[in-house]
Amino acid sequence: QTIDDLGDLRGKRVLVRSDLNVPLDGRTITDDGRVRASVPTIKRLADAGARVLVTAHLGRPDGVPNQDYSLAPVAERLAELLGAPVLFANDTVGPEAHRIAAALRDGQVAVLQNVRFNEGETSKDDAVRGAFADELASLADVFVSDGFGVVHRKQASVYDIATRLPAAVGGLVEAEVTVLKRLTESPERPYTVVLGGSKVSDKLGVIDNLLSKADNLLIGGGMVFTFLAAQGHEVGQSLLEEDQLEIAKGYIEQAEAQGVRLVLPTDIVVAPKFADADASTVSADAMPADQLGLDIGPASAEAFAEIIRGSRTVFWNGPMGVFEMSSFAAGTKAVAQALTEVDGLSVVGGGDSAAAVRQLGFSDDQFGHISTGGGASLEYLEGKTLPGLAILEGNDA
Ligand code: 3PG
Repeated sequence: QTIDDLGDLRGKRVLVRSDLNVPLDGRTITDDGRVRASVPTIKRLADAGARVLVTAHLGRPDGVPNQDYSLAPVAERLAELLGAPVLFANDTVGPEAHRIAAALRDGQVAVLQNVRFNEGETSKDDAVRGAFADELASLADVFVSDGFGVVHRKQASVYDIATRLPAAVGGLVEAEVTVLKRLTESPERPYTVVLGGSKVSDKLGVIDNLLSKADNLLIGGGMVFTFLAAQGHEVGQSLLEEDQLEIAKGYIEQAEAQGVRLVLPTDIVVAPKFADADASTVSADAMPADQLGLDIGPASAEAFAEIIRGSRTVFWNGPMGVFEMSSFAAGTKAVAQALTEVDGLSVVGGGDSAAAVRQLGFSDDQFGHISTGGGASLEYLEGKTLPGLAILEGNDA
């Protein structure tokens, strides 16, 4: 059910699970996309007169309180974006959380400290997780699941809590699922998937599933060198996953058999070391043995851009190169630019890809949809059951 189905929320204590897992440099948020994406649901609940308790994680503190992973700076940012004060409890289910939950007035918002400071949150033991979910549930009357980036986790504040309180899906999760459903069930064609990032092994499931759905599969980023090596090319000092070579070979054959156009770069930007200096462009089949590939080359970037611009549906996950260094940012920039020119649905998947496009100077509204979930959107596209969604649909995961 959705928030509409929860009835009158005035005076109700609503526990909202958001994904506020943002990159921090000290106390400074370097990309606040996830906080911004969480605002509409929180605002909507507050406007309805609910007493809103936001629960979220930051990083992986593994069940141990650690102020380096405090959500306090995120609560401050949320207050700025809401244009209203936000209370902060420096514990999740302890005395401060209970005191604040009891003191909240209608329409007020509070953020609870990092839920992963509690070992029950991520425990593999159902009973331990369940006991923690009971404590969380005791703070509120209703649960709203709005942390799309974390719905692939079977964790107390995502999964177990939904069986302990009347639960509804929030607007962000609804919007994300609607877009991803279009990608898996009814993509307008041509449908192009662009994959980058460092590891083939992170993308196996999604390649498996999308090879039967997409028309074009464009591959860049560090993972491309395993594909080039699988074709018998020298890849020099580039990232290479030896144990994935046969799998990459299999994908190349499978794409051919299924009529999917699998496109690899024909030129590569290389450098003698992992540094922003001495970059040159070489042919992908003539990479020098003493250099490493750090971006797709300009001819490949243009070829990728042309295919993307000619598509009606595009999903992109993972940078094409080491975009943080200016010599190796052009490939990622060209792909991002092409996505903004798609006449149809363009989707940027993943926290890292989303941060990349913003860092490169693009704004969110230039794309059809920027997903807040990296792992979650990939697992959805892999066709996996996401525990945080399944439990809301009344299914166990
Ligand atoms: C993410 O950053 O992808 C989500 O916030 C989930 O974080 P996790 O991978 O630590 O569970």
